[in-house]
Amino acid sequence: MSKPLVLAHRGARSVAPENTLAAARRAAELGADGWEFDVQLTKDGELILMHDETLARTTNAHGAFPERAPWRVGDFTLDEIRNLDAGSWFLRDDPFGTIRSGDVSTEEARAYAGERVPTLRDALALSAELGLWVNIELKGTPLAPLSPAGREMVDKVVALVRELGLVDRVLVSSFDHERIRYLKAIAPEIPAALLVLVLPSDPVGYLRGYGAEAMNPQATAYDREKARQLREAGHGVYLWTVNAPDELARFAVDPYVSGIITDWPQRLRAILGPTGYHPGGPR
Ligand code: G3P
Ligand code: CA
Repeated sequence: MSKPLVLAHRGARSVAPENTLAAARRAAELGADGWEFDVQLTKDGELILMHDETLARTTNAHGAFPERAPWRVGDFTLDEIRNLDAGSWFLRDDPFGTIRSGDVSTEEARAYAGERVPTLRDALALSAELGLWVNIELKGTPLAPLSPAGREMVDKVVALVRELGLVDRVLVSSFDHERIRYLKAIAPEIPAALLVLVLPSDPVGYLRGYGAEAMNPQATAYDREKARQLREAGHGVYLWTVNAPDELARFAVDPYVSGIITDWPQRLRAILGPTGYHPGGPR
């Protein structure tokens, strides 16, 4: 039985500021096979890593640009964003209590100050260097028609993945399924996944309707029979976001789970044992 991939959610975000290069480095150090991160377009059309629609929670944008609330990502240029501090909030907020528990030393947390918001190019280049598999989540609007911004985002992601020669290392996913349909139309060689809250009644038919290789369901709505159908039809099933030790242990031995996206890759690696990812395998 093949083991599921250990995928660090937004990097190893339980021990480092999410969606940063530091979080990718920690993921690699903790034995993750890969990492998931979120991509958005800046005002001037650059691709950066950011989860929220605004810069408020994970950067010092409020201090740097006090007049520009609510600090929407798309209202800022890359030059403006790249000067922000995307690391100090981790020490201030201790979002997973790992500084309080001593899992992250105060010294280590202080060193995150000044961490930058990475571009997609930065993130992919570091992933290749670290040997990490990459799940690129395209942030968009679920159930909406393909927008010009959606098309622009997909065009730029495809161009970069091809330029860097990372087709075997990536899985592109989105809740905006029209972006995935468009991606598969222009780049059938790039693996793609549909993000879903709940698996549809005919998961294989639905997935194939978009030309995608995998489906990424929310773990709380996991349906083993539908996952079996997907896996036996040759598709991938990547669950998000699994953190509780008992849930990690349960999914770790489920033969229909291809990968588990977790804020705690260290926990899942401890359950699974040594790493098993090789470029090109498992979907
Ligand atoms: O890609 C799975 C998961 O990351 C989707 O939810 O809100 O963490 O981006 P979110
Ligand atoms: Ca995400």
